[in-house]
This record gives sequence, structure tokens and C-alpha cells, in this order.
Amino acid sequence: MTTIYNFSAGPAVLPKPVLERAQAEMLDWHGSGMSVMEMSHRGKEFTSILAKTEADLRKLLDVPNNYKVLFLQGGAIAENAIIPMNLLNGGAADYVVTGSWSKRSVEDANAYGKINVVASSEADGFTHVPAFSTWKLNKDAAYLHICTNETINGVEFDGLPDAGDVPIVADMSSHILSRPIDVSKYGVIYGGAQKNIGPAGLCIVIVREDLLDRASPLTPAVFNWKTQSENQSMINTPPTYGIYIAGLVFEWLLEQGGVSAIEQVNIQKANLLYDYIDSTDFYINNIALHNRSRMNIPFFLADESLNDAFLKGAEAKGLLQLKGHRMVGGMRASIYNAMPIEGVQALVSYMQEFEKAH
Ligand SMILES: Cc1ncc(COP(=O)(O)O)c(C=O)c1O
Repeated sequence: MTTIYNFSAGPAVLPKPVLERAQAEMLDWHGSGMSVMEMSHRGKEFTSILAKTEADLRKLLDVPNNYKVLFLQGGAIAENAIIPMNLLNGGAADYVVTGSWSKRSVEDANAYGKINVVASSEADGFTHVPAFSTWKLNKDAAYLHICTNETINGVEFDGLPDAGDVPIVADMSSHILSRPIDVSKYGVIYGGAQKNIGPAGLCIVIVREDLLDRASPLTPAVFNWKTQSENQSMINTPPTYGIYIAGLVFEWLLEQGGVSAIEQVNIQKANLLYDYIDSTDFYINNIALHNRSRMNIPFFLADESLNDAFLKGAEAKGLLQLKGHRMVGGMRASIYNAMPIEGVQALVSYMQEFEKAH
């Protein structure tokens, strides 16, 4: 059978050992006689899963004690509205637009107060993060919102601006856990799970405690970070199975040596693909070198009339879901933590073969 490599941007490939373990535990989790899906979220079995999942995430990201970790529903797009509900409260916030997702965050937040776009690379086709020195930051902003890895455009931050006392709120959906971060530099970190963490339906929010008292009184309890943190993310029924799979992914990541170790593999994988793209005129990636994403690598064929043939040939080789996002076109290879280096090697071999044939 052909080995399948899944380059989907999300929902995306998960580590095989995680899926095998989930399969083995499907009908009977640790002698409970139940699947995790069937357990009460308040029972001792599931509360132990949640506690371990949170502890492992804290270990992986070295989350300081003055941060709460929430396991919520609604994905990252829901957070686009939930963030201003929790932090804006009649004030104004700064947003930086570096791709389709941060642009969407601005559109969603606009209904909740004054949103100032303080830097944008839209006029340049979202090919880089504007130099920090050009950002028109407001000292009294309630927060500064950024998306540190733009999944569609393939643009990743290679540093953080100095925002002074303004808390930085970062959408890390598509690169969380792919590289070490200093959590203490952020006010809020959030991300949908379906790329580097687990199944869709779970959103992780890491929030500094002193930011929990700023919610608008109109914020519903399920969307109120303080209420959720006081109730162990259980104001509503949390996405229990998603949390369980996330927990298995965190255990797997710790076994790999943690985030610093996986970062080295991610660098190797990304270099392999970018180096090949840069070595030929047949394929093109226009993103500024220092902002090229290690997780999402969009590329174009110089002759776009070959797109269909490229995708068809890729599929025949078991290289799946390489079609670029509909807003951008071309191709995109998403190579999250769970994509083995063999998958990237297989892709590069196929790209070389296709180039020779055409
Ligand atoms: C960076 C980023 N932000 C937000 C989202 C939206 O996530 P969701 O559809 O889970 O709400 C995505 C999804 O692909 C994303 O990549």
C-alpha cells in the first residue's frame, strides 16, 4: 500500500502513535469500561484526564503560574469576538494585519469597539510582517492583537515587538508548540486545536490572571474567561474527546523531547522544502525569507496551467491535500509537528520528478 502523507492545513495530520493509542483505548479507557466520549466531564476519570492534559501543556510551554489555561469550544474564530468582550470594555485596541486570519480578526472585533489597524502588509500581498519600527502603536490600547503564523499566506513572526505595558494577544493556532515561546511576553495566547494539537472543536486559551477582570458586563458566562477559569473550563460541557486527544499529543510531544526538540525537526523539514523551491524557477514562494512559515508553505508553479496535473500526480503518490487555499490559489504544504520528515522528502522527490517531466 502507498504510504499516505497528509499536507492539510487543518484539520491536519496527527501523530500515528496517538491515533493507535486512542484506538486501543476507544472501548475501555484504563479499565473504566467506558470510552472517553461516554464519560461525565465531572467524573473522576475525565477530571484526571483534564488535569494531566493541562499539566503537560504547562510543562511543554513552561507556562508561568500567573497564567490560566482554558479549554474552550468555538475555535479561534469565536475568540475573535470573545477577546474584545473580555478585554475591550469600551476602550480601543491595536491590531496588526499580516494575512487573512488577522484581517478576519479585525472584521470580527469591529462590532465590539474601536479597532485601530496599526500596521498591515495587505498592500504588499501579505508577503511579510511589517517592520516593528513602522507600527503606529497606541500606548493606551487595551491590547495589541497579532497572528503569529498566518496559515493561508505562510507568514510567521520571527520576533515580537516591544508593546510596553499593552498586553499582546496572539493567535497561534497554526504554530503553537512548534517552537519554544516565552509565554510571559504575552497577555493572551490562543489557538484552535486542529493543526498542532488535536481535533477541531477545542480552542486553547492561555491568559494572564490580571487580565481576567476586564470583561464587559454583557459577556455571556461561557465566553467569560474569568468565569471559565473559576470553573475549570466547565461552565458548559467542554469538548471532552478533543481534550483527551490533545492530552495524548502532549504526551507524545514530551516523549519527542518537547518543543525545543521538535523545533529542530521542524527547521530541518522547512529547510528541505524551501531550499528546493529556491533552487529552481519552476516553483515560487514569495514570502520574505525571515518571515517564511515553518508550518505552512505555500508555493506556486511558474506555469499555473500545470496545477491540475501536479495535484493529480501528487495524489497518485499518496501526497494529499496540497491544493492552496481558495483565496490564494497555487499549492500549500502544511508540515505540522506530526508530519514526519519522510513526508517532506517524498514531497520534494515528487516535485523534482514533476519538474523534470514538464
Ligand atoms: C491562524 C488561524 N486563526 C484562526 C483560524 C480559525 O479557526 P477555527 O475555524 O477553528 O475557528 C484558523 C483556521 O485555519 C487559523 O489558521
